[in-house]
Amino acid sequence: MLDLFADEAPWQEPLAEGAVILRRFACADARQLLGQISLLADRSPFRQMVTPGGYTMSVAMTNCGDVGWTTDSHGYLYSPIDPLTSQPWPAMPTIFRELSDAASKAAGYPGFAPDACLINRYAVGAKLSLHQDKDELNLQQPIVSVSLGLPAVFQFGGLKRNDPLKRVMLEHGDVVVWGGASRLFYHGILPLKTGQHSATGEFRYNITFRHTR
Ligand code: SIN
Ligand code: FE2
Repeated sequence: MLDLFADEAPWQEPLAEGAVILRRFACADARQLLGQISLLADRSPFRQMVTPGGYTMSVAMTNCGDVGWTTDSHGYLYSPIDPLTSQPWPAMPTIFRELSDAASKAAGYPGFAPDACLINRYAVGAKLSLHQDKDELNLQQPIVSVSLGLPAVFQFGGLKRNDPLKRVMLEHGDVVVWGGASRLFYHGILPLKTGQHSATGEFRYNITFRHTR
């Protein structure tokens, strides 16, 4: 089907203090990003991690960059080694760096230099419960989060788990950047609805760039 909006110019929507949605910001790079994800996953495959509490996460994950977010029996950690392959995580592709650079600048966080990149893959029903991104040592740096493929509902709250939640649909090419006053705000993804996307089939992918040290 002809997509009349394929060349739509990106626009910005404020989400909270320090947080903004860059709508369609990654559309132009989407094919290349997805190609790179496929290559990265050949080296460090997607896997459903088990939380320290023994719960198997519904989202499948992998990483690239100097360190990757992972779990072990003790907790959550950033590790230079992929525990599945016992090899270092693949390097961050240039197109990833360029996108992270452009998005962080557009959101008002110039100079963001991520050393970690978590890649999430959502199949139908997969979700990410409300959580804070707080395993990074440097909380001055924002989180840059890129959505690809099927849409999903993103919940964005406050510093307390029971603060009121905003619910926004994140679509193919949308980039959310949060830092400053909202860096530690609770957020999550509601269960993915079934669907078909021309670029990703039955999946949603999310790439988050983080500065961990
Ligand atoms: C995350 O919180 O790490 C990812 C959120 C998303 O999938 O959009
Ligand atoms: Fe998160």
